[in-house]
Amino acid sequence: MTISTAAPRTDRVSAEARRRRTFAVISHPDAGKSTLTEALVLHAKAITEAGAIHGKAGRRSTVSDWMEMEKARGISITSTALQFPYTTQTGNSCVINLLDTPGHADFSEDTYRVLTAVDCAVMLIDAAKGLEPQTLKLFQVCRHRSIPIITVINKWDRPGRHALELMDEIHDRIQLQTTPLTWPVGIAGDFKGVLDRRSGTFIRFTRTAGGATAAPEEHIDASRAHDAAGADWDNAIEESELLSADGADFDRDSFLRCTSTPVLFTSAALNFGVNQLLEVLAELAPSPSGQLDVDGNLREATAPFSAFVFKVQAGMDSAHRDRIAYARVCSGTFERGDVLTHAATGKPFVTKYAQSVFGQQRSTLDTAWPGDVIGLANAAALRPGDTLYSEVAVQFPPIPSFSPEHFSVARNTDPSKHKQFRKGIEQLDQEGVVQVLRSDRRGDQAPVLAAVGPMQFEVAAHRMATEFGAPISLESLPYTVARICDAADAPTLQKLASVEVFTRTDGVMLAVFSTKWRLENVARENPTVTLRSLVAAGD
Ligand code: G4P
Repeated sequence: MTISTAAPRTDRVSAEARRRRTFAVISHPDAGKSTLTEALVLHAKAITEAGAIHGKAGRRSTVSDWMEMEKARGISITSTALQFPYTTQTGNSCVINLLDTPGHADFSEDTYRVLTAVDCAVMLIDAAKGLEPQTLKLFQVCRHRSIPIITVINKWDRPGRHALELMDEIHDRIQLQTTPLTWPVGIAGDFKGVLDRRSGTFIRFTRTAGGATAAPEEHIDASRAHDAAGADWDNAIEESELLSADGADFDRDSFLRCTSTPVLFTSAALNFGVNQLLEVLAELAPSPSGQLDVDGNLREATAPFSAFVFKVQAGMDSAHRDRIAYARVCSGTFERGDVLTHAATGKPFVTKYAQSVFGQQRSTLDTAWPGDVIGLANAAALRPGDTLYSEVAVQFPPIPSFSPEHFSVARNTDPSKHKQFRKGIEQLDQEGVVQVLRSDRRGDQAPVLAAVGPMQFEVAAHRMATEFGAPISLESLPYTVARICDAADAPTLQKLASVEVFTRTDGVMLAVFSTKWRLENVARENPTVTLRSLVAAGD
């Protein structure tokens, strides 16, 4: 008799997948993303003191900002993947995978790529500012990809807008029905605690010195809440009743369909409301449920191992000059040392160097399950969007590359570094740091770099100089819009003013235009020319 091990293994994969919550925080810079990340990790008891990951001023520092440039600017350009265990108040044990999106105001493709790897997003809003441009753009990407959103109104300890007004703004500007799970007791600037709208209890928060440790909270029964918080409690109850009358109670189906959003109120700096967010993530955020392949078939989470690379990062550690590909596990179990297949080439891929990255600390990763992120070091062959699998072949769809809006000619400033220049540009192109465009007219010596946000150019120039030893100069070109065109139409387009045609490394031909009005003109005056849109940031 043969004993099958398949069923228990499938059960284990399914159980591990169910425990996972893989999400990213989307926000405008300064809304408190780094502070909230710290607070989440602190409350999950993965660190003992806030400041341990991002190294905030005056706090203990192990800094997640890898590149010198980031340190100089005090921002986080690269993405970190944090994993930590969390046990809910009812004793369920979860594994949280928090993917950090870059925190700067410019867009870069990195941010969008990270969002291809999450099952849920936390939309963090500054209570005084409401919806800001970066939040709106990132939200559009989430909607486009049908990623459910939990909204967190942060900085409630500071004077800000009225809570109901913020709910209206979300509803009116992005057509998301808000369904608050907690409601603040005390106006913005006087944060006493929250009404838990589902249990009806008052959760009272107490400040700790400097907000460095988890804030104590007291759960007070509704019958005693008025005595504890007076008119602030009465107001919270009244407003909560208004919300219910307005249909603003939590609904799981519309949350998963991305048409409603549960809302929580926090002060990440004081650690208020952070436990509630962890509980909501554990209770309501979807767990990994497999991934659609290029043909639209579902690769179930319990199928043999598969993952896709959503980001390639080089130069994280100046001492090692290494290159890490981050892959999100879609199905099955990963064991370090497994030999996988790289779907793009059909070649075996050895995973001896798998790592998990927690802030700046890296540790060897031995096992991973659906929803987890694997950091694969020395992964020269891997590109964003690549699929890795074992046993049963699968190919996931490519990650859409966004329509570039900034274009610059790159020139090697040191003629003796010709080889390094070519190698560096090729590498940055493969990693997706920038898109590289070429044309006969400009020649191979002067490739055009194309980006969604100008910060990508700074990263490229910095890395060319420091990593490849080939400093470059960048000359900005006056184009802002790109369209895919056919080779047959290229000669017609080339002749027009304020239009240029390039070939991308993947062979796609791009026509670029000075403005969208110029594009519209060209399209009107040349009706036989076909111009196709790329995915635009914020579409
Ligand atoms: P980001 O990653 O989204 O860019 O924001 P970050 O966490 O760096 O926070 C931006 C600023 O807002 C920081 O102040 C931070 O302390 C503050 N902040 C974050 N959450 C809260 C909150 O809930 N309440 C209040 N009052 N402030 C908050 P900073 O002065 O720039 O830096 P720091 O020296 O205070 O760390």
